[in-house]
Formats: sequence, C-alpha cells, structure tokens
Amino acid sequence: MSAASTSLRAAYDLAGKAVIVTGAGGGIGRTTAELFAAAGAAVLCADISDGAGETAGLISETSGQAVAARVNVTRQAEVEAMVGMAVERFGRLDAIVNNAATISTQLTADLEEAELDRILSVNLKGVFFGCKAAARVMKAAGSGSIVNVASSAIDLALPQTVAYSMSKAAVAQLGKCLAAELGPHGVRVNTVAPGFVITPMTSRHFTKADGSIDEAKKRQVIAELSRGLVLPEPTEAEDVAHAILFLASEAGRQFTGQILRPNGGISMPW
Ligand SMILES: NC(=O)c1ccc[n+]([C@@H]2O[C@H](COP(=O)([O-])OP(=O)(O)OC[C@H]3O[C@@H](n4cnc5c(N)ncnc54)[C@H](O)[C@@H]3O)[C@@H](O)[C@H]2O)c1
Repeated sequence: MSAASTSLRAAYDLAGKAVIVTGAGGGIGRTTAELFAAAGAAVLCADISDGAGETAGLISETSGQAVAARVNVTRQAEVEAMVGMAVERFGRLDAIVNNAATISTQLTADLEEAELDRILSVNLKGVFFGCKAAARVMKAAGSGSIVNVASSAIDLALPQTVAYSMSKAAVAQLGKCLAAELGPHGVRVNTVAPGFVITPMTSRHFTKADGSIDEAKKRQVIAELSRGLVLPEPTEAEDVAHAILFLASEAGRQFTGQILRPNGGISMPW
C-alpha cells in the first residue's frame, strides 16, 4: 500500500473512537450515526424517540458498534448522563454531533412565546448542553471534535422560520466562540449548515394525515426550498453526514470555528 493510501485511510479511520450523535433516531442523524459506525467508531445514538434504538439496531445488524439512549436534549441532566454513558460504555469520547432539532413554520406575528421557547430549547439550549458536557470530557482528555448542525437558514432570509433561523444562527456563533475557548486544549468545534434535505422533518410538509405522500405538494415544496440551488442534484442526508465525518475525523484536524455548507450552492458566503 502506498504512503498516500495509508494516509487516506488513517485520515478517516475511526476504529477505536467513540462518538455521540443526537437526533440519531431518523433523518440526517441516523445517516450520520451509520456513517460513523461504518468508519469504525462506536456510536451512542441518542434521541427523544424510539428511533434511537432502531438506528442502533441497524448499526448492530451490519456488525457496527452502537448503543441507544433516550435523551431529551432540552434537559441538561439527561445530556450530562448521555455523555457519562458514552464514557462509561466506550471508555472515551472523541466526537459529539449535536444534531437534534425541531422546526416551527409560523409567521412571526403568530408565533406564541411557548412555541419560541420550545424551538430555542431544543435547537439552541440542547446544542449548548451537548457542547458543555462534551467539552468537560474532551478538555480533560486534551482532544476531541464537536460538530453542531445548523442550517442554510443562517445565510438565507426564509419567511415563516424566524424561531428556527434565529436558533441556527446562534448555534453557528456558539461554535465559533467555543472553538476559541477549546482550541488551546486540543478540542475542535465546527458547524455544518446543510441545505434542504428530504427527511422526516421536511417530508411532513407533504405527508397526508393517512401517512401517504401528496406528490403535487411534494413537488411544490421541493421547488420552493430548492430555489437558488446551483447544482442539479438535491442535497441528501449522506452529503451532510460526509461533511460531519470530515470535520470529526483526522482529515479535518486543521478545521475549527468553521462553517461547512453541504447545500448545492444555495448560499455562498465568504
Ligand atoms: N432536513 C433539512 O432540510 C435540514 C436542512 C438544514 C438543517 N437541518 C438540520 O439537520 C438536523 C437533522 O434534521 P433532520 O431533517 O434529520 O430532522 P428529523 O426531524 O428527521 O430528525 C431530528 C431528530 O431529532 C430528534 N429530536 C427532536 N427533539 C429532540 C429532543 N428534544 N431531544 C432529543 N432528540 C430530539 C427527533 O426525534 C428526530 O429523530 C437538524 O439540526 C436540522 O435542523 C435539516
């Protein structure tokens, strides 16, 4: 084997490493957990839903190493217990992907305080709790990678997503501040800001009450959310998972405080 291919394998090899993925019960989180397991990592799949167990089951079926935890990321004690469980089960924590989130699609004038609190609790406080609990362990270990999932909503001005967009912009800023804090301790912090991906979060816009898909509505939603896309193909969960894996692995060792945008060119900031 050439030196280049040895270096390539080592850069993405997560054998012997341990990773937490929140919101791993479906969508981008499930795909990310599966990709990390395929790269050799032991994965703690965390979710508020039964989906965490299903994802861990899927990984185990392919001989990967995974455990599931039911975690509500809005509860700091549960997030701390999740990090403790990873360290206890795997003996270490190399990366955490703070991916769990929820969305609200109301006009600002109609957005009730309780709904604003709900979105900020999951999308911002949940990510903060994950960062805080993982930072303690990683700082003590002198290494680690935190990847937070934001959205291209941080670059675009999308109507009817004010709570979601605010929470995601705050997540991006959290990543930069924390990168500056933790960099000297060997811990990297980055953000992935995906474009529109069909997942349970987005497909509910065109799913009928009986669970079937409204194809006309689906085409309309995809057309609306893909406006401005430069590439011909839409972004898929795998594209996001690959960006996350890059940032969490040795290949991304010079990346910290950065925002990576797997979004088909829908936004192109500096
Ligand atoms: N799908 C998209 O188009 C898109 C675009 C940009 C960014 N994102 C971001 O990607 C991430 C994943 O989104 P997705 O589309 O896969 O969504 P999804 O709804 O399919 O998955 C989100 C997961 O988070 C879990 N979750 C929700 N609240 C939780 C809580 N309080 N505690 C623990 N788990 C909780 C859900 O049960 C679900 O399994 C999110 O951060 C989302 O904002 C998605």
